[in-house]
Amino acid sequence: MQTIQLNTGAEMPMVGFGVFQMAPDVCERAVSEALEVGYRLIDTASSYKNEAAVGAAIRRSGISREELFVTSKVFVEDMGERKTRDAYLRSLDALGLDYLDLYLIHMPYGDVFGAWRALEALVREGRLRAIGVSNFQSDRILDLCQNIEIRPAIDQLELHPFYQRADELALLSELGICPQAWAPFAEGLNGLFTNPVLAAIAAAHGKSVAQVALRWNLQRGVPVLPKSTHRNRMVENFAVQAFTLTEAEMAQIATLDLARPQMFDPRSPAEVRRIYDYLNNPVLTTLQ
Ligand SMILES: NC(=O)c1ccc[n+]([C@@H]2O[C@H](COP(=O)([O-])OP(=O)(O)OC[C@H]3O[C@@H](n4cnc5c(N)ncnc54)[C@H](OP(=O)(O)O)[C@@H]3O)[C@@H](O)[C@H]2O)c1
Repeated sequence: MQTIQLNTGAEMPMVGFGVFQMAPDVCERAVSEALEVGYRLIDTASSYKNEAAVGAAIRRSGISREELFVTSKVFVEDMGERKTRDAYLRSLDALGLDYLDLYLIHMPYGDVFGAWRALEALVREGRLRAIGVSNFQSDRILDLCQNIEIRPAIDQLELHPFYQRADELALLSELGICPQAWAPFAEGLNGLFTNPVLAAIAAAHGKSVAQVALRWNLQRGVPVLPKSTHRNRMVENFAVQAFTLTEAEMAQIATLDLARPQMFDPRSPAEVRRIYDYLNNPVLTTLQ
């Protein structure tokens, strides 16, 4: 399995398994199957409300802890030095693990610096292997790096053929921070799975559009987190190492960039309002 070395020295699988929008029963079954298929990185979050299911599937698999790379995330309501520490310990408890390989600040809101100090302390105590952020754009990353001691290992970002973020990736590379692609299929939006450019490239290689979308990110050095509840798709999404897109094909895919978020814009006031509305009244609103 192809891995990438983080700035902590740890090796992280280039292809992980995401469990967003999976109810606990579906999640436990899907993670069990994903581990059977060969995935070793599982990406969950406290806000997905399925950490216990992930933990149950891990225990049932019998795979040794050292072979796995488990990520979770702290959500907005738990930002701050004390609250973030407590949230991490709750995540560990739910997962039934005694450390995580990676723990991320899910969104760039709330007391980011207090939260970061809590994460740094957990790393120093040996209870957490690596720390990072998600949905931090270049300005937030630069500001964060100026004011902390341990630099993020990861910035998990919306990254797919319709939102390619080349400038932001260049900055992350300069800072030694590894990007990681969430929604590598844009959840199928904009007809990604039937896009004619991607379909023609897929046909030329005897692969699927999904495999081409993943392969394109991998070839630009970006690890990916495809999500599927279907075993055949888990197999398909994992089998992306044994073919190579040509430079011309990479250039064709570059033309698909719409250069703006397709799913979530952390700078949009409407999104910020939606998240705080959800936290203030989760019964009336839903979080995506
Ligand atoms: N940090 C963040 O803010 C953030 C935000 C969003 C997501 N994430 C992470 O990134 C992971 C992936 O993102 P995502 O779940 O939003 O979307 P995604 O992986 O881009 O797309 C998932 C969708 O694609 C379908 N699919 C998967 N493989 C397919 C294939 N080979 N052919 C056709 N359809 C396929 C899935 O359907 P089926 O399930 O029915 O197969 C599902 O509807 C998440 O699970 C989560 O771990 C993080």
